[in-house]
Amino acid sequence: MTSQPVAIGVLVSGNGTNFQAIADALEAGRIENGRITCLISNKADAFALERAHRHNIPAIVLDHKGYPNRTAYDQALVALLKEHGVQLVVLAGFMRLLSPAMVEAFPHAIMNIHPALLPAFPGLDAQQQALEYGVRYTGCTVHFVDTGTDTGPIIQQAVVPILADDTVETLSQRIHGEEHRIYPEAVRLFCAGRLRVEGRRVHISA
Ligand code: GAR
Repeated sequence: MTSQPVAIGVLVSGNGTNFQAIADALEAGRIENGRITCLISNKADAFALERAHRHNIPAIVLDHKGYPNRTAYDQALVALLKEHGVQLVVLAGFMRLLSPAMVEAFPHAIMNIHPALLPAFPGLDAQQQALEYGVRYTGCTVHFVDTGTDTGPIIQQAVVPILADDTVETLSQRIHGEEHRIYPEAVRLFCAGRLRVEGRRVHISA
């Protein structure tokens, strides 16, 4: 384990319950050797900004609308993250695809959470996709980010059964419960230096 805490930058677009779960785990000492140095939102009205204020974490709005293209926005994002010394980028409901400019700046050091058991149901509306397909089980996945859509090496997954009377809302609520368990766990393993990527496989050392 390194002596300096891993500097974590969190990117959000909305509510930020996953950010909250990770911030709570850090504050409670369930994640050792990590520190959130900034939270960045591409939306000025994201409630996650308010959550960051409550945790005394610098909260920044970087609106994508002011940029001509994805690469230009991502370059600004990289600069901001580097200014805050970030070593691990945590996407917590950040509803934008990342360009190579961002992915290459943090190799195997960007994590995302997706509300399905990847590689099933990537992209938008994963819960709706699962309900429409008629699967009995879905869940959530924490993975490293590559330049594809939800295609990077998988770190953690949790299964959520689909109930006969589930709606997108009821299913999302139960998936969220599992997300709040596995995302802090994935961050904990990263901060402890226990994750190693080999091809598509993520090895977790003891
Ligand atoms: C989470 O359910 C996460 O899996 C999903 O957004 C939600 C954010 O919730 N992410 C994606 O769909 C990314 N493709 P939160 O703002 O309460 O953490």
